[in-house]
Amino acid sequence: MKIAILTGGGDCPGLNGAIKWVTKSALDPKNSENRAISFEVVGITQGWKGIIEVDPDDPKSCEKYIKHLDEETVRTWDRYGGTNLGTSRTNPFNPKNDRSAKVIDNIKKLGIDVIVAIGGEDTLGVAYKLHKLGIKTVGIPKTIDNDLMGTEYSLGFDTAINVIMEEIDRLRTTAGSHGRIFVVETMGRHAGWLALQGGECSGAYIILIPEHPFNMERVCELLRQRHGREINYSIIVVAEAAKPAGGLEFVKDAHLDDFGHESIGGIASYVATEIQNKTGFESRHIILSHLQRGGTPSARDRLMARWFGIAAVDMIINEDFGRMVSLSRGEISGAPMKEIINKLKLVDVEKYYDTERYNGRRTII
Ligand code: F6P
Repeated sequence: MKIAILTGGGDCPGLNGAIKWVTKSALDPKNSENRAISFEVVGITQGWKGIIEVDPDDPKSCEKYIKHLDEETVRTWDRYGGTNLGTSRTNPFNPKNDRSAKVIDNIKKLGIDVIVAIGGEDTLGVAYKLHKLGIKTVGIPKTIDNDLMGTEYSLGFDTAINVIMEEIDRLRTTAGSHGRIFVVETMGRHAGWLALQGGECSGAYIILIPEHPFNMERVCELLRQRHGREINYSIIVVAEAAKPAGGLEFVKDAHLDDFGHESIGGIASYVATEIQNKTGFESRHIILSHLQRGGTPSARDRLMARWFGIAAVDMIINEDFGRMVSLSRGEISGAPMKEIINKLKLVDVEKYYDTERYNGRRTII
């Protein structure tokens, strides 16, 4: 069986580990010894774009888009962030330019039996559509936003909240020296998990998330209360998609990508300016941006990448196609892709957020 692995959407630490472990697990001699199955593994470069652009009849093109993967090639990959296969936000089912027939044709011409798609809701949505069209696919969840349904964990999230924590630890000393307020903008296109958990583990005073539009007056009131207690600085964490009550998300670039998303951001600058104008407290903002997706994977991302990669090969062996490997109640499990697409796992405000303090919950009532 020929397995092709691809990574789609925004990159993050953990992708290379997942590629390594799909490869290692598939090529384990135990598969042929004990189960009479043998695999060949290739990587498709640049996500779905690679399988659209490749010309199966042109060896040069195949060299560019299809990489042979073996144990030696992937041996050290789990230590590195990013994706050695490259990625793209290309959508073969984009209604304005549907190239799904080309994808199916190329998969057949290249003799690919199954695709392992590593990605978020967009990438796995494509994998599900292909599955419905008769292509064997399995998914591995990845997104620093951790907003995929059907899994408690998506690759990249842990490294990203560690980056947020480390950067806030750094900001705290300079904020304290100058007696300033720092507004830190995290990623999170729809969900507030990064801001909430990044803010909680770094002891931010205020955390603003998209699931609960905020009131600027209340933010200022909370700051006045704290600064009245002789504390001279504050850290505020704001998710890029957070918005003032009655307002809209801040759009950085209205150009839509292939999946119809605009690029959002800019809320931290608004919040810092409003605070300074309304309270007189000196305020600065910082956008952590792609730093959150860079660097080497945390221990948790390396482990999860390993376990997810192994589980994906198990799914293939069991012919459990159209499914995504997942973490459910702390155990490696699986979920039908059908149930995870066109939905998002947002922060349950009732359960996790204190709407008066604008922070993570501190009591259970
Ligand atoms: O989906 C992951 C994510 O990092 C979002 O949090 C963010 O809004 C988006 O990707 C940024 O995308 P790009 O790397 O294309 O700017």
